[in-house]
Amino acid sequence: MANDLSRHFSERAKGLRASEVRELLKLLEVPDMISFAGGFPNPETFPAELIRDIANEILKKDGSKILQYGITEGCPELRESVAERMRKKGMEVSKDNVLIVSGSQQVIDLTGKVFIDPKDTIVVSAPTYLTALTGWAVYQATFESIPIDQNNMRMDVFEERMKKLAKRANPPKMVYALPNFQNPAGVTMPEKSRRKLVDLASDYDFLIIEDDPYGELRYRGRHLPSIKSFDDEGRVIYMSTFSKILAPGLRVGWAVAHEDILRKLVIAKQSADVCTNVLGQRIANEYIVQGHIDPQIEKIRKIYSRKMDIMLNGMSEFMPDGIDWTKPDGGMFLWVELPKWMDSGELLRKALKKRVAFVTGKAFFADPKDGTTSLRLNFTHPSDPMITEGLRRLGSVVNQEIVSNWDRSKESVDRKIEDAVKGNLIGKS
Ligand SMILES: Cc1ncc(COP(=O)(O)O)c(C=O)c1O
Repeated sequence: MANDLSRHFSERAKGLRASEVRELLKLLEVPDMISFAGGFPNPETFPAELIRDIANEILKKDGSKILQYGITEGCPELRESVAERMRKKGMEVSKDNVLIVSGSQQVIDLTGKVFIDPKDTIVVSAPTYLTALTGWAVYQATFESIPIDQNNMRMDVFEERMKKLAKRANPPKMVYALPNFQNPAGVTMPEKSRRKLVDLASDYDFLIIEDDPYGELRYRGRHLPSIKSFDDEGRVIYMSTFSKILAPGLRVGWAVAHEDILRKLVIAKQSADVCTNVLGQRIANEYIVQGHIDPQIEKIRKIYSRKMDIMLNGMSEFMPDGIDWTKPDGGMFLWVELPKWMDSGELLRKALKKRVAFVTGKAFFADPKDGTTSLRLNFTHPSDPMITEGLRRLGSVVNQEIVSNWDRSKESVDRKIEDAVKGNLIGKS
């Protein structure tokens, strides 16, 4: 007899929905599918042999300690190594400000536990990192969305919004910022906006969660100082990870925070998982101490920068007029804006039939009405020829969509006719 077990779910759990991206990842298995959907690093970059050698070495030397439970805050040697790297990036921090976590995703969960009561407001960009939205939704947060442009979060809109929100009984508690090559849109926040955000945090008394998994993956332009480096009041909780610069399977990330905040995060982590995987932490530390990490980052930059160029060239070659996309300086993603009448969910259904996948924009917005005409493309995981082939397929689906919807947009029809007359469209579809 069917038994509906869902009645046992908590009120919190009833509001949880499956991540569209996680569901889509299953499609990576379909034969011939070219996936721009995931956010996966390329396994070609994983230094598997070196990690194996390091694991052998440290287990031989220190096995009994490595296989024991560790300290919740993290292995002292890794906390020190991370603090040193953070100091080189302009943050005035010591090892006591560093918490090692089970992937930086855990910081989303821990900050939810420590700061968020039901109906508390978190300000996010629109679009933003999907799993931050779902992670804080567990704690029944509400979200205020600020649109982005090529300079990341629109600071003019943010400031105006804060003026209004500050008058509420329950003004925003946290702002979630992804300053470098934001997931999903690939856009970067200028230095001026980073300073401004810290000033506003002080004026309006909010905390900033600075999520920086991609900061090291810069392919052009100069490195910009972190938001945390402007923070004199301990308002910024910075987070980053070894997932994109070493291997995500290690599940080792870190948070940098004021000691008072860190102490609370540690208590929350204790009840979550006791400690981060000690073997993974020691491998990451040894990787830094032996001097492998910077050459590794350089190697990854080279590979991904090439892949990004292939994707940007492919977009120019295969996408018709009326489609816009971001030109990131680093990271792993491109963000695509379709004509206002074209639905990216509908486009995905058709693209999947041509064996090419992406993530629809909707997934990255707190407001489910937003993002219907946008989509995210990942360029780090597919092989170089598959990027070009995938874009050829996607371009032909988009072109087909335009051709079969002549009457939907007079402007685009006119442009399309001009293209067709020039012979471009026929060549592309
Ligand atoms: C913006 C952002 N934050 C956090 C994470 C979590 O990374 P991890 O838990 O592997 O450190 C990711 C992973 O893709 C991400 O894109």
